[in-house]
Amino acid sequence: MQDEYAARRAALMEIVPAASIVLLPGAKLQYRNADAEYPFRQNSDFYYLTGFSEPDAFLVLTKDEKAKVKYILFSLPHDPEAEIWSGKRIGQEGAVKDYAADEAYVCDQLEPVVSKLLDGMQHVYCPKSYDLSAWSNIPKSEVNVLPLIHEMRLIKSPAEISELREAAKISAVAHNKLLRACKPGMFEYQLEAMFTGYCMQEGCRALAYTPIVASGNNACTLHYIENTQKISDKELVLIDAGGEFNNYAADITRTIPANGKFTPEQKAIYQLVLDAQLQGIDEVRPGNTWNKVQETMLQVIVGGLVELGIMQGDVETLIKDKAYRQFYMHSSGHWLGLDVHDAGTYQIEQKWRKFEPGMVLTVEPGIYINSNANVEEKWRGIGVRIEDDILVTEHGNEVLSRDAIKQVADIENAAI
Ligand code: GLY
Ligand code: MN
Ligand code: MN
Repeated sequence: MQDEYAARRAALMEIVPAASIVLLPGAKLQYRNADAEYPFRQNSDFYYLTGFSEPDAFLVLTKDEKAKVKYILFSLPHDPEAEIWSGKRIGQEGAVKDYAADEAYVCDQLEPVVSKLLDGMQHVYCPKSYDLSAWSNIPKSEVNVLPLIHEMRLIKSPAEISELREAAKISAVAHNKLLRACKPGMFEYQLEAMFTGYCMQEGCRALAYTPIVASGNNACTLHYIENTQKISDKELVLIDAGGEFNNYAADITRTIPANGKFTPEQKAIYQLVLDAQLQGIDEVRPGNTWNKVQETMLQVIVGGLVELGIMQGDVETLIKDKAYRQFYMHSSGHWLGLDVHDAGTYQIEQKWRKFEPGMVLTVEPGIYINSNANVEEKWRGIGVRIEDDILVTEHGNEVLSRDAIKQVADIENAAI
């Protein structure tokens, strides 16, 4: 894997001109409260270029006048006292030996070493948010380095695809377990616990984001994460949850009937969202543009809502006026990778981006009919989202999360 990190650094340094320096801080430990730490998670851009997962690290890449590139890593020093508490550190010799740094220094050396490296440099590449005011000899030309890294991150390598496939596979099985376990009377957090437990047992050291386990009308709160309500009979439960495997995210949503059987209204809405999703996924192939997925799904969703009598009017006009936004208020999905909402632009020069092999995205239509919506009583409190993780392949796509059951009959049979 070190070869791949080296190739990524080399590719980045190919883009920057001679006499450039790249400055990229890694993540710091975060505290939940007082001195209780969150488990450390490296910044995704830093990880992408180094594979280095200790807090307080700092990456410097230089390209001199003669275009010679150097990789310098700053990290915590060996410290026998601290290592008794927090475990072994890689240290500077490890940074050179195991992480292929040309030079390695302790974090405290950042200022003198970088000040020297800045001499003679004409361009500095760093995150836009990085505060350069601490440095006295910064070159005039400052460039935001993140868009360059993010463009690289958009196309996943075979090694990255295999991590994403594993994250999706584990998470899909976890969703199926919840489908079989869900019963009215359970609390939402019990499903959350089951999901978390299974993912962790299978090697996910974290979840990619806080799970949403939303029964009944809670599903209409898009980022509901309280997960404290008792699940009632005849309600749907929307579960949006994904494991993180070696820093790569899964992002899957399934919506299931609490008692194992959809009511006719729930089934009608569910089937509509599923039809939209399946047609949306069909649009994911090389050469097709990003917006095609949403446009296709809108035709199905708005057409279906009109047919069910939930919306009234001409489908094209309702789409043009965005009238559907009271029931479907988010986009078709997002890039997926090291971050759940992964790096990369959706448009280039205001034109929708074309899919290319190696891109990974979610397709996640939904219909949310709030309990106070101005519709017939029988539709109220139904919230459905179905979300899968899709890899763009050479000739079409592969649904990485395909193991998660989603056909109505399969859901109803699995729950028996
Ligand atoms: N789980 C966050 C999302 O679906 O975008
Ligand atoms: Mn998503
Ligand atoms: Mn999601």
